Amino acid sequence: MANSASLTRRSIRKFTGEKLSEALLDEILKAGFASPTAKNTQLWEFVVVDDMNILNAFKEVHRFSMPLIHAGLGILVCGDLNKEEHEGYWIGDCAAAIQNMLIRIEELELGACWIGVYPNEDRMAVLEKTLNLPEHIKPMGFIAVGHPDEKKAPSDRYDPEKVHRNGW
Ligand SMILES: Cc1cc2nc3c(=O)[nH]c(=O)nc-3n(C[C@H](O)[C@H](O)[C@H](O)COP(=O)(O)O)c2cc1C
Repeated sequence: MANSASLTRRSIRKFTGEKLSEALLDEILKAGFASPTAKNTQLWEFVVVDDMNILNAFKEVHRFSMPLIHAGLGILVCGDLNKEEHEGYWIGDCAAAIQNMLIRIEELELGACWIGVYPNEDRMAVLEKTLNLPEHIKPMGFIAVGHPDEKKAPSDRYDPEKVHRNGW
């Protein structure tokens, strides 16, 4: 069972520069659309960004976003607040989509890194402006994705002391 993509996935920040094919991009996006959402609102929207001007503008407000520059491509997951049934659930919905795609990316033997956006207001504002996002579309998180140029061993963070049953 140790080869499950959910167990071997790591954050990859170095990429070969080889362009991601549209077919692979589509495979990844399908995993986003397969993710769970509260009340099945499917409130996510996915913005594929490979315009280096936009990725560089984002770098100005987020110095740990270099994986996006190295990958040359990012998938920004946004939430449509008009579709939200319960306030605040959009964040979990978008996070689930991101994680589903990260696992699919691992299965496809590609590399990816989650790049944080929400709740940082500067990062959100730059993306809202450069991508012309409508008022009700909120950027939650970016995935830098591409062909990996580094390998990482699976993490070994299992800690039974952090597992509780029927209380603390
Ligand atoms: C909400 C969130 C935001 C993150 N933001 C960034 C980021 O902006 N830049 C980055 O290089 N890594 C980012 N990461 C990746 C974490 O640094 C990484 O998951 C963590 O160090 C554990 O390493 P692993 O993913 O290889 O297991 C983020 C992860 C999460 C879940």
